[in-house]
Amino acid sequence: VQQTYIMLKPDALQRGLAGEIISRIEKKGYHMVRCELKMLDEAILKEHYAHIADKPFFPELVAYMTSGPVLAMIIEGENAIVGMRMLMGATKFGEALPGTIRGDFANTTTENLIHGSDSEETAAIEIKRFFGE
Ligand code: GTP
Ligand code: MG
Repeated sequence: VQQTYIMLKPDALQRGLAGEIISRIEKKGYHMVRCELKMLDEAILKEHYAHIADKPFFPELVAYMTSGPVLAMIIEGENAIVGMRMLMGATKFGEALPGTIRGDFANTTTENLIHGSDSEETAAIEIKRFFGE
């Protein structure tokens, strides 16, 4: 059984899609083992998005991610890391297929509703980053 760090981004909460998204996660057979509504600041985003902090779209990403609270969650289940990435759909607008969360509900690459850890290593780091030890 794996744990992964999932975060509903501000647009998911502002658009009232949290229930729909959590419902899809539960129907996949995964369970929420922790959850917390929180505001992020630029410091934690620079850490979380260190791999893209030098990209031209980074300021836009920070503005978006600080525009309202996020719902930080630890999701647990069989193959939860890859399974959640499949439910989420691809990052780039135009590549996320219908049937995925992003493919069904997101209209841009930046505002894409949900974050999910992309490997076992990052899952462990991100769970620690957002929930502590
Ligand atoms: P996360 O689960 O949020 O980490 O998304 P990801 O792993 O699918 O993508 P990645 O870690 O590469 O990028 C993090 C976030 O930055 C994405 O979810 C988008 O919100 C944003 N982003 C990534 N690439 C682009 C891009 O080329 N253009 C724009 N405008 N935003 C991007
Ligand atoms: Mg990522």
